[in-house]
Amino acid sequence: MIKQRPLADAYGRVATDLRVSLTDRCNLRCSYCMPAEGLDWLPHDETLTDDEVVRLITIGVERLGVREVRFTGGEPLVRRGLVDIVRRTRALGSELQLSVTTNALGLERNARALAEAGLDRVNISLDTLDPERFHTITRRDRLDDVLRGAKAAHDAGLTPVKINAVLLRGVNDDDACELLAWAIDHQYELRFIEQMPLDAQHDWHREQMVTADEIFAKLAAEFTLSPATEPRGSAPAELFLVDGGPATVGVIASVTRPFCGDCDRVRLTADGQVRNCLFAREESDLRAALRAGADDDELADRWVTAMAGKLPGHGINDPSFLQPDRPMSAIGG
Ligand code: 5AD
Ligand code: SF4
Repeated sequence: MIKQRPLADAYGRVATDLRVSLTDRCNLRCSYCMPAEGLDWLPHDETLTDDEVVRLITIGVERLGVREVRFTGGEPLVRRGLVDIVRRTRALGSELQLSVTTNALGLERNARALAEAGLDRVNISLDTLDPERFHTITRRDRLDDVLRGAKAAHDAGLTPVKINAVLLRGVNDDDACELLAWAIDHQYELRFIEQMPLDAQHDWHREQMVTADEIFAKLAAEFTLSPATEPRGSAPAELFLVDGGPATVGVIASVTRPFCGDCDRVRLTADGQVRNCLFAREESDLRAALRAGADDDELADRWVTAMAGKLPGHGINDPSFLQPDRPMSAIGG
């Protein structure tokens, strides 16, 4: 019998949603994420191999109650083994929820293979439909690739395709309504995310952040929003019906309305560190233990211990808040 235990913390929360970063590299350079020149990427030998990733996911699913696996980056599509990792994860159970958070570059080529490997859904990052603004934000001219990638994902049945948008003051903060009309037209589910202090450059300023309240006000100019009936639960997005439904729009107010009390997430970085929170200042090194020959039971123990120390909240709104040492691209979104 395999020993089972939950990934519980001292505040009564249980993590069942595992976010696995497969690489810290990316083919875009979003200004709220990394500098134009990119970052010092993780050396190859510090990155988990496909077998190591699958082994840790298996421990999470078989011993620790993980029910949902989300692959993130950096950009997970730049990892060559992605389709195979998805296939091997799917083999762990048909009821597992599997998704990828991607910028959609190259998704046109991969969507069908990912669906056939057992992926359920994709979350696509897209902040504007204007090519020039897209270039300003991502520092690359790839808007068309993203649009084709989204369509390919929809056509491959990776639905509902969710679109994540970050609004930046003075850059794309008047794009909210256009994005929503476009998303509804294509049957994509749009969610706005408040910009969080996770950029490598440490350039985040509260005044620059477009808040959830501002986003509502912008959308209200062209749409009627009413709270969707289902309770938010542990899903971070507050969902609203658009013009009476069935279309919806989500707002993820991580900063102005934190949802840490309902968090059910745990993260594994591309170099095999467990993080109990995006904003954690400590990590637990499963890679070192794994490479030193630890068995599955010991790795599960270490993972449980790492989760037990999860803090009650991210503390972004506390004067003493310190940004985590690693940027979002190295943690996984
Ligand atoms: N704040 C909010 N969202 C961010 N993302 C990346 N960096 C930030 C940030 N600082 C988004 C990306 C992507 C998801 C992984 O998180 O746009 O949709
Ligand atoms: Fe790449 Fe995502 Fe960071 Fe943009 S936000 S640079 S797509 S990792």
